Amino acid sequence: MCGIVGYIGNKQAYPILINGLKRLEYRGYDSAGISLLDKDVKIFKKKGKVSDLEKHVLNEDITGNIGIGHTRWATHGEPNDINAHPHISMNGHFTLIHNGIIENYGRLKERLMDRGYEFKTDTDTEVLANLIEYIYIKGQVSAEIAVRLALSKVVGAYGLAIICKDEPDKLIAARKGSPLVIGVGEGEYYIASDATPIVEHTKSVIYLNDDDVAILGHDGMTLKTIKNDKLEPKVQQVDLDIGEIEKNGFDHFMLKEIFEQPRSILDTFRGRVSLDKEEIHLGGLHHVLDKLIHAKRIIIIGCGTSWHAGLVGEYLIEDLARIPVEVEYASEFRYRNPIINEDDVVIAISQSGETADTLAAIKLAKQAGATVLGICNVVGSSIPRETDAGVYTHAGPEIGVASTKAFTAQVTVLAMIAMTLGKERKQISKKDFAELIHELNDVPAKIEKILTHNNDYLEVSKLYKDVTNFLYLGRGYLFPVALEGALKLKEISYIHAEGYPAAEMKHGPIALIDEKMPVVVIATKDKSYEKIVNNIQEVKARKGIVIAIVNEGDKIIRNMADHVLEIPEAKEELSALLTVIPLQLLSYHIAVLRSCNVDQPRNLAKSVTVE
Ligand code: G6P
Repeated sequence: MCGIVGYIGNKQAYPILINGLKRLEYRGYDSAGISLLDKDVKIFKKKGKVSDLEKHVLNEDITGNIGIGHTRWATHGEPNDINAHPHISMNGHFTLIHNGIIENYGRLKERLMDRGYEFKTDTDTEVLANLIEYIYIKGQVSAEIAVRLALSKVVGAYGLAIICKDEPDKLIAARKGSPLVIGVGEGEYYIASDATPIVEHTKSVIYLNDDDVAILGHDGMTLKTIKNDKLEPKVQQVDLDIGEIEKNGFDHFMLKEIFEQPRSILDTFRGRVSLDKEEIHLGGLHHVLDKLIHAKRIIIIGCGTSWHAGLVGEYLIEDLARIPVEVEYASEFRYRNPIINEDDVVIAISQSGETADTLAAIKLAKQAGATVLGICNVVGSSIPRETDAGVYTHAGPEIGVASTKAFTAQVTVLAMIAMTLGKERKQISKKDFAELIHELNDVPAKIEKILTHNNDYLEVSKLYKDVTNFLYLGRGYLFPVALEGALKLKEISYIHAEGYPAAEMKHGPIALIDEKMPVVVIATKDKSYEKIVNNIQEVKARKGIVIAIVNEGDKIIRNMADHVLEIPEAKEELSALLTVIPLQLLSYHIAVLRSCNVDQPRNLAKSVTVE
């Protein structure tokens, strides 16, 4: 939540900051603001999108070689001009931007008010600006010391970029809980919430750790902890191409990312699956493989779409490897006093690698002695750094807020883990293992084929774009896909949608069915095919509209359903990878037809770094 950028160097800061904010807008888009330090501090902020801010500064003086910028997803205080960042301290010494939550802001605010501080906004961030300033004036210390002392009094999470107008040759960045990356250029530094605004300027980056404070100057940088212990900055090269973070001719990032799936799935298993040797090699799990093979139980945690991938993982691992699996919402797991044993293996799934609830659940599992693995997409993010081992999904940057290619990449990794465990535990034969490997290898081409029918999805979408409810049904491996299809539709089109295991329809949702209710049934050939045919009949008997996802050449369902959308056949263990594509396309087209902002749906953010 919230995107942060900063620049110090010899170039004009404004164009760097505004472009950076556009790249980070997926993290939050309630309001945006920029502060530039020239002879004095200038602050421009505006409710709405980064483009609104751009219009707002059209006739302003935007010169300055130092600056910070912010795009907000509101936590404290409604999204308006005043609550937008940057925030300035009461006497104007400090200007800062913040991603995260200051949990003890109420107490800090009271104490500052007792000492004469007045507040103009409802934000927790202004409290931090004033706290730093209070320590700075009272203690007569440098800006850096004031920042470190203030942060030692703060409970909560922050990614911060700070300007002190009395020390106009530096920019201070600090991190705890919220991600922050420093870009290292020639006599210049960049700050950002992730590497996407930085890579067009430099590929050399430093990922800050919790409790790190970076003091960036024209002549170099100093890295230390908030307790003043000096640290050696570890510069890494980031492997991210600018083309990956642009739309490349697609109308929306979401559509581009849907169409990237043949490649992103291939990238996820490339080099890990050997067709010749009929082997799977997951290097990141090498040193914990034994632990996994002998795990008494696997607990999968995640949020949103990642949780849905986890459900597919449960079916895969129980089916192929016969290890009991539980799938938990990270937010529930961390607060419900769960039983965690030392011989449990916890798998945390997260596209961003930054989701606050998932991170907290990982810490809990580690404290209880479990081995914790991560399945993440963003390289160098917090979750891979917190976990004992893991597998990157290699799907490439996902910018659309509604997750698409990250889901299929996560399922691909889970399938590889389940297949490996099944083979090692001798629960599947060599022949079955080999067949699954070849089947996985065929998935990208099959998705390619589904995507050639994009227009069919558009045509069906036109018929149902104005309905108010949708029901999604699936069984077995396709139940989590039904949940994911419903989530996609809700997220981007604001149509109410529910996913259900098809057999459960009788226990409630059937009451909703009438001639206005479209029911998307995922009815590809698997062991419950006949059962789902019965479910379709139950919907038709109540005059519901059936949109069925079926395998090519299916005649039975063609005779019953209102619409059939054909996809290639696949082994049921890998069917989620194919069946989710039509649901992504349906949601996308319906949302576009309803004129919704597909890439930035209201109230949502891509990376939820607050609980
Ligand atoms: C947010 C996003 C979802 C995502 C979820 C979990 O809600 O909007 O698309 O599935 O967070 O994010 P993660 O990065 O942990 O997978």
